Amino acid sequence: MALYPLIRPLLFRLDAERAHQLAILALKLRPPGSSSFPGSLTTSVAGIGFPSPVGLAAGFDKDAEIADAALGLGFGFVEVGTLTPLAQEGNPKPRLFRLSEDRAVINRMGFNNRGQADALQRLARRDRSRGIVGVNIGANKDSADRIADYVQGVRAMSPVADYLTINISSPNTPGLRQLQDEGALRALLSAVQEIRAIGGPPVFLKVAPDLGEGEPDQIVRVAVQHDVDAIIVANTTVSRPRLKSRHAEEAGGLSGEPLKQLALDALRRFRSASGGSLPLIAAGGIASADDAWERIRAGASLIQIYSAMVYEGPGLARRIAKGLVGKLAEEGFASIAEAVGGER
Ligand SMILES: Cc1cc2nc3c(=O)[nH]c(=O)nc-3n(C[C@H](O)[C@H](O)[C@H](O)COP(=O)(O)O)c2cc1C
Repeated sequence: MALYPLIRPLLFRLDAERAHQLAILALKLRPPGSSSFPGSLTTSVAGIGFPSPVGLAAGFDKDAEIADAALGLGFGFVEVGTLTPLAQEGNPKPRLFRLSEDRAVINRMGFNNRGQADALQRLARRDRSRGIVGVNIGANKDSADRIADYVQGVRAMSPVADYLTINISSPNTPGLRQLQDEGALRALLSAVQEIRAIGGPPVFLKVAPDLGEGEPDQIVRVAVQHDVDAIIVANTTVSRPRLKSRHAEEAGGLSGEPLKQLALDALRRFRSASGGSLPLIAAGGIASADDAWERIRAGASLIQIYSAMVYEGPGLARRIAKGLVGKLAEEGFASIAEAVGGER
């Protein structure tokens, strides 16, 4: 039974951050679950067997409070964080806006989180056989040495992470995205490479959709040289495609429907830069099985969703997974892996 269309108008009367807190609370009250998926959805990336390619994107469960409940909603994997070494409050409220007319979200949360140690004790207690949880790490806003923060994150969170994501693409920590520049990226990834333990989790890199000419090639080159296992394309955009909502001018990162084309274009650029040598994970404006399929055909091995859930509800992951099973059958593929990157 589709309850969400009934609940949504009530949630939308609340301030967006309140509504999000309520969603987290509801998920905390849900018994932890795990989901089963048809074998055709199993995809291997960086040595991990993902039971479904549909994941929950970072930023929804910043403090790793509801990862198992989210797995129970039908996600094949959940990315918690962004977690910084030290707890921090983030930006002043309001800092999260629904742009309903645009089916979009703008956020300038600024890595509000209770810090890595707090999440670590929760993640250490969970039964890891329930499903795949990746840990997204970042740098504290006031850190004197941002690279040291990422090194600290790798060291602290490796024992509880099925994969780690190095997030250098949030627009809400001033200067963070400059770590995508070639020299800074090289320094960051060298430091990460050095601290990674043998047998530790794979490391993914999350990039912005707002990259200049040649940047995807540079990033792919440096990533491959430093043993990055996959690239997540993309984070929110600082650009403002035409928007209707009254919140259009709010500062922060834009996500949801208006990000869709930009994120798809960025994915194609990374696919052409990597030639399929590096697994890609797509995020940005994915709201249906058709959207997910388009990303897979454009080169994504996995996809992640966030903003569309605000509009479509918690059943979206399951609906997309089911739709992908249909797509595979329709197009005559036995598995997701066979379909990856086959467009044109
Ligand atoms: C409210 C909000 C908070 C987010 N926080 C983070 C974060 O902490 N770390 C991160 O890597 N991405 C964060 N993101 C970006 C998402 O993970 C995702 O990359 C982006 O929203 C595009 O996907 P979507 O259009 O499906 O939302 C956040 C997005 C939203 C809407």
